Formats: sequence, C-alpha cells, structure tokens
Amino acid sequence: MRYFLLFFFAAVVGVVLIAGPQGKRSPNRPFEIFPDMDHQPKVKAQSPSRFFADGVGPRLPIAGTVPMGYDFPAAGPGLARIAGAENPGAARSSHPGLSFGNDPSYLATGKMGDNWGDGIPVEVNAKLMELGRDKFTIYCAVCHGVTGHGNGVTSKYGWNGIANYHDERIVGQPDGELYNTITHGKNTMYGYGANLSVTDRWAIVAYVRALQKAQRGAVADLTPEQRATLPTQ
Ligand code: HEC
Repeated sequence: MRYFLLFFFAAVVGVVLIAGPQGKRSPNRPFEIFPDMDHQPKVKAQSPSRFFADGVGPRLPIAGTVPMGYDFPAAGPGLARIAGAENPGAARSSHPGLSFGNDPSYLATGKMGDNWGDGIPVEVNAKLMELGRDKFTIYCAVCHGVTGHGNGVTSKYGWNGIANYHDERIVGQPDGELYNTITHGKNTMYGYGANLSVTDRWAIVAYVRALQKAQRGAVADLTPEQRATLPTQ
C-alpha cells in the first residue's frame, strides 16, 4: 500500500509537470529530446537578424551583382570579342556582347528560330579552349570522364547511361543542341545554366568538339607542314 501511494503521488506530480504548463506562454524553447535540425542559425524571409549591423535579415544584392548565367562587361575571355552582327541579342542589349533577360538570340539559346543552330558564336582561340577545358574539368568530367567517353568517377559508383561524346549521335548534334544540353540538361542530367555563364557554356561546347575531333582525326586533316612533323614508321 505504501508503495502504491508513493507511486500514485509520483504519477500525479509527473502528469501535473507535463500537462500543467500546457497553454502557458514561455519565452524559453521547449525541451526537445530529438531536436533533429529544427533550429538552425539561418535568416528567415522577412525576419530580422542580429548578424548584420543594421539588424535587417534579407539583404539587397551588393553593388555590381550580375545574375547567374550572365557576364559582366569584359569579365570573361571572349566576351568583348562577340560582335553585334553575329549576335542580334547583343546589338539590342545596352552592353554590347551581353545577353540579358529572355534573349532569344542564338548566343543565349543555341536555337535559330525553331531549329538548333550550328557554329560557335564567340571567337574560338586558345584562351577560350583553356576556359572550356577548365570548366569541363570542373563541371562535366566527374560524369563524362576527362576524354568524354562517359566513364567519369560517378560511373565507377554505378551510374549507368552517362552519354559518350564519341557516339555518332552526339558527334552529329549541332553546336546549339550541345549548348542547350549544358544549359537545361537532358533526362537524368541536370542543367548547368545557373552555374555557367554564356561564354563558359560556349567554351565547353568548343572543348567537347575538340575532344571529339581528338578521337576521329585523320592524317589527311593535317596541313603538309604538320604532317612533316609526324614521326615516320
Ligand atoms: C552528374 C553527372 C553528369 C554531369 C556532371 C554532366 N552530365 Fe552530361 N549527361 C549525364 C547523363 C547521365 C547523360 C545521359 C542523359 C540521358 O539521355 O539519359 C548525359 C548526357 C549528356 C549529353 C548528351 C545529350 C543527348 O542529347 O543525348 C551531352 C552532350 C552532355 N551530357 C554534356 C555534358 C556537359 C558539357 C557537362 C558539363 C557542363 C555535363 N554533361 C555534365 C550526366 C552528367
């Protein structure tokens, strides 16, 4: 009996402790046994933040901010060289060589009207190829492999069906279609339009073309001077 009373008393105190403060407001956070990630040090929309000196949480973009996917005048290699004539969008833009907004130009979309366009609308030179190689190595090689055979590191972990750039079908695709794949992705491949500027994307197209050429070259493609430098068998 004594134990029953003790237990009963403890149970009543327990219920009052848990249920008693229900409905009362407390400035303290409730005790959580499994907090998971409910409370994170982040700025919520429309709320103040003590992190910034002015106490305002949501920030305005800092001066000179350029939206992802666009270039700042003369910021990227190749940019200044895009002539207005080759790029109707640029001619309309207040910054020659830039394409802002929903620009329908070939430079911005890879499309000419309802068709894929072909040709690289920025000047292809050694600097652009280097840019293309760098960006390709960062963004594409993990899956497509450094030579573009679709055997990047992700394929070793069981990702099947990564396109091989040396398939006839892809070799035969117009440049604009490749550009569009980079911008918007394709089936299981995500798009990289938000990560790569217009110039970066065309640089990658040029580099992918070079990778393809590297696998399909013939001696006949060389100039006589280049042929003369080949080792003889
Ligand atoms: C996370 C892995 C991954 C990355 C990174 C990736 N790709 Fe892909 N890519 C794929 C896969 C998977 C496919 C095949 C998609 C399909 O058709 O199912 C593909 C398909 C393609 C194709 C063929 C599209 C077609 O018409 O069939 C091209 C071209 C291509 N990728 C280019 C690129 C370029 C350029 C980059 C870098 C900007 C890139 N990919 C980055 C996984 C990737």
